[in-house]
Amino acid sequence: MTDKYAVIGNPVSHSKSPLIHSLFAQQTGQDMSYEAIEAPLDGFAATIERLRAEGYKGCNVTVPFKFEAYQLCTRLGDRARDAKAANTLIFRDGEILGANTDGAGLLADIEKNLGFKLMWKDALLLGAGGAAAGVLWPLFNAGVGIVIANRTIEKAQLLADEFKGSGTVYARRYDELAGKQFDLVINATSSGLKDELPPLPDGIFKPGALAYDMMYGRETPFLRYAREQGATAISDGLGMLVEQAAEAFYLWRNVRPDTKPVLEKLRA
Ligand code: ATR
Repeated sequence: MTDKYAVIGNPVSHSKSPLIHSLFAQQTGQDMSYEAIEAPLDGFAATIERLRAEGYKGCNVTVPFKFEAYQLCTRLGDRARDAKAANTLIFRDGEILGANTDGAGLLADIEKNLGFKLMWKDALLLGAGGAAAGVLWPLFNAGVGIVIANRTIEKAQLLADEFKGSGTVYARRYDELAGKQFDLVINATSSGLKDELPPLPDGIFKPGALAYDMMYGRETPFLRYAREQGATAISDGLGMLVEQAAEAFYLWRNVRPDTKPVLEKLRA
């Protein structure tokens, strides 16, 4: 029997996950289906219950339900626990197992696909919402020094407080960044959705710096700014999307898909 999976979000119709997982399934010969399901904003838990009752094996969770998904889990992987958010669920033996593959996806894209070594690098993480929280611990564990910048400094400070005493994660306002330089600047704000640019000072990119926008599918003001400011490597978040999907696929199917041809196909 074909094993059923889905991605749940709101909105979700734009999601590339069904295409990515069907390419993975084709490539690895896995008998599975994968669809996009829009849950009502107040109906995430009910949607999960329905999927479990209908025999689905698991699902991905996207905006805005990752935090609620985390709360529904009966068992958590360490990255989901760190981020207090889950993007991958497995339904097994009456339990809901939760994982967060976003951080691993970002790391794989930066290190493997872009060939940028993270250890000892200085990163500026823009934003302090769910997207930023999801990648903070994995970046920290990769040996990256991190400054979190956010308009609402209190939110950045709350995230940085989780690393108190480590000496490598700090919260700053945008106007405190003048004169500072970074090897890596990651845009985890939702500013690109509104075609806006976070209020960055000039000159924040070190020579050879990588500018990374976690959004994909459009040239954001941040990526344009990075190009003008002389960032050497520039990437959107499409590779992260494919890599986090590959991690989820591995958790569900115990098979690692080759992400390269899938990413090439999506870029074409
Ligand atoms: P997500 O789950 O996608 O991270 P979120 O929790 O709503 O979404 O967080 C959005 C993030 O983008 C926040 O860090 C927000 O900054 P504030 O907390 O100061 O509001 C940030 N953001 C959104 N638009 C922005 C803009 N134009 N410039 C800078 N930051 C922006």
